[in-house]
Amino acid sequence: MSSNKSAQPISASAEGPGLTLYGGDGTGRRVTVRDLARAKRAGERWPMLTAYDAMVASVFDDAGIPVLLVGDSAGNNHLGYENTVPVTMDQLVMLTGSVVRGTKRALIVADLPFGSYQESPEQALRNGVRFLKEAGAGAVKLEGGRRSVPQVEALVAAGVPVMAHLGLTPQSVHAFGGYRVQGRDAESAEQLIADAKAMQAAGAFAVVLECVPEELAARVTDLLDIPTVGIGAGAGTDAQVLVWTDMAGMTTGHTPRFVKQYVDLRSALGDAAKAFAGDVVGGAYPAPEHAFH
Ligand code: KIV
Repeated sequence: MSSNKSAQPISASAEGPGLTLYGGDGTGRRVTVRDLARAKRAGERWPMLTAYDAMVASVFDDAGIPVLLVGDSAGNNHLGYENTVPVTMDQLVMLTGSVVRGTKRALIVADLPFGSYQESPEQALRNGVRFLKEAGAGAVKLEGGRRSVPQVEALVAAGVPVMAHLGLTPQSVHAFGGYRVQGRDAESAEQLIADAKAMQAAGAFAVVLECVPEELAARVTDLLDIPTVGIGAGAGTDAQVLVWTDMAGMTTGHTPRFVKQYVDLRSALGDAAKAFAGDVVGGAYPAPEHAFH
């Protein structure tokens, strides 16, 4: 477990101008990757959520969530696909633009979908630039460690901040043969550490660690100068991310063990829909106060 963690946000004043990522006064500007670097140095932990549309994103922005990810998890949580593989650049550019327009403060990170960066650094750069130019994102995310170094270097050299994603990388679901915890044996743990170091050396500003043992995630967190963002990686990372539909109880079927559900929004919305339907069928809606004369 990392030793420099504090449960409470630490004031930015210790390091001069900046902002507390969560729970502070704010500065009236968007969160930047420099703020995340400062938070790592200060031992400030921070939350990240996915968002796929302007309205939900505005709720999270108002709640003070400092980083929102327009993840390719939109595939199975917004677009109705079985997994993230079919998601396209055009779809995520549209969703990212919507999330950017719905927010004022959060750093918006857009996910490079499967097939949009693996081909070459040039392809990664072309698509990363689309997210910044066409959608207004502040950063991009891509999956993969050492194999993605040329892509990360090309993006960073062009001024596109990159968040890397290691461990269980859902775009490789077919290669993994399912969704499994990664880095459990000594060899794969060392591979993951090498990948994380390579991503930092290539210029990534943060690393997502998905479904890896808590001890390994804490070790990577201590080894890196850039923040780690855990999902199913225990309590030792610098930040935590959840898919918003999991966190809010919108998803159906199996939810992974690491998910904590904070509200049962699916039941609440279903109940609201049934109440509306009952009022329409029974004649209670619209009432006189809902009518124009
Ligand atoms: O696409 C996504 O939502 C993600 C998170 C699970 C980190 O990659």
